[in-house]
Amino acid sequence: MDIAFARLALPPRGALIFPLAEGAGLPPLALRADRATGGQLKRAIAAARFKGRKGQSVSVLAPAGLRASRVLLVGLGKAAEIDSLAVENAGGEAIAPLLASGEREAAVAAEPVKGAKLGPAEIAALFAFGARLRSYRFAKYRTKEEEEKKPTLARLVAMAADPAAARRAFAPLAAVAEGVFETRNLVSEPPNVLYPASFAAEARRLSRLGVRVEVLDRRRIERLGMGALLGVAQGSAREPRVVVMRWRGAGAGRGARPVAFIGKGVTFDTGGISIKPSAGMEDMKWDMGGAGVVTGLMKALAGRRARVDAVGVIGLVENMPSGTAQRPSDIVRTMSGQTVEVLNTDAEGRLLLADVLYYARTRFKPRFMVDLATLTGAIVVALGAEHAGLFSNDDRLVERLIAAGKATGELLWRMPLAEAYDKMLESDAADMKNIGGRDAGPITAAQFLQRFVDKTPWAHLDIAGVTWAKKDKPTVPKGATAFGVRLLDRLVAEHYEGKG
Ligand code: BES
Ligand code: MN
Ligand code: ZN
Repeated sequence: MDIAFARLALPPRGALIFPLAEGAGLPPLALRADRATGGQLKRAIAAARFKGRKGQSVSVLAPAGLRASRVLLVGLGKAAEIDSLAVENAGGEAIAPLLASGEREAAVAAEPVKGAKLGPAEIAALFAFGARLRSYRFAKYRTKEEEEKKPTLARLVAMAADPAAARRAFAPLAAVAEGVFETRNLVSEPPNVLYPASFAAEARRLSRLGVRVEVLDRRRIERLGMGALLGVAQGSAREPRVVVMRWRGAGAGRGARPVAFIGKGVTFDTGGISIKPSAGMEDMKWDMGGAGVVTGLMKALAGRRARVDAVGVIGLVENMPSGTAQRPSDIVRTMSGQTVEVLNTDAEGRLLLADVLYYARTRFKPRFMVDLATLTGAIVVALGAEHAGLFSNDDRLVERLIAAGKATGELLWRMPLAEAYDKMLESDAADMKNIGGRDAGPITAAQFLQRFVDKTPWAHLDIAGVTWAKKDKPTVPKGATAFGVRLLDRLVAEHYEGKG
């Protein structure tokens, strides 16, 4: 679906959308539309008890006296409370029923809202952003589809008094949407198509945007001494990769310290020799979600020319059982020199992250590191799909992350770290073991990671519950969510741009 911008007018065809604040009257163009229909819109508003609340909508088909094929009224909530998320969500909810409705075009009228913090150009841009995010579909493997289910909507025209201003406001959002789509595509690909080498090849394509991409192959990884990552990879016929993506947008000197994002990229997690039950194992195709988010985030930052120096480092492996697979009780040596007794080969994410976190920290000396990983089933038990688990050694980073989460609707909930949990990782045979027992699973996993981050400000997002959605949300169709891209883009935009 394309997005275009135009002046406010009653359109000659297609769906016409009016976003309306709660309790406010109809703005001028909506009033004109109502008069042209002989009062049909006001009657529909009364009949549906439409108040303009968030999530409310009314649709009027074949309105008399207008050339539009339907009029859609969508609620934004109370004027004083309208924020970017409210407008994005309204855009997503408005567009969803139109996508495969037979409509080819829709136009949204962004008129000034009295008492709102956002102006009409911003509203037009944010509404279009939400609509675009919701329009995502992963359909490349479908060769037949019923006519009625095929998308028909080709264009959304965002109308505002100053269309040039709306277009300017939309430009960075379009780049973020591209990043989100990159992540959703990666996460949706099946594991026979997306494996470490093919993932790395896709990441390489970011170089077109000015991202410097390095792909480390098995020999390089061996020379670096990433024994924990290699141990996970050794059961698979697919060789591992580590990909380093660098965006230098701050214009600062060579010595400037970047921000760093690290992702777990297990392109399929069978569990290895500690094999998972077959029911539901297909979900483990999205065990590369963290790496997918880091890749999409780098695309978003580069796409909008963010004034920041950022590095993304992802560890890509496939966790398979085979004659060459690692065994429970194997002891591996991490790049940091610390040794790990592998008691469960299904606790593989922390193993590769140990090496990738250590590598990112010692090579780049970043201002902070945020890692994302579909790390534990237990975080899904604790938080469901409503929050990702947040673990951190830095209160300021936590505060900023939680705020960015609220602003983008990608919510985080802080979980504890403490010495007593760390003790649960003590091993009889090596420096640590890779599982802490049944209790406090997500926490002992995070404690394990913390042993490789030293004093660097660091946050770990356990995204196992939020990476794949079982139902639609306003701006996220069910399936791959790309949870984390908007959140971290926002974190960077709010705190780390233009300040060296
Ligand atoms: N990739 C899984 C975690 C996961 C589970 C992600 C469900 C998404 C949905 C991870 O590698 C794993 O297997 N974790 C184990 C850890 C355990 C062996 C300590 C788990 O959660 O059971
Ligand atoms: Mn696992
Ligand atoms: Zn896993």
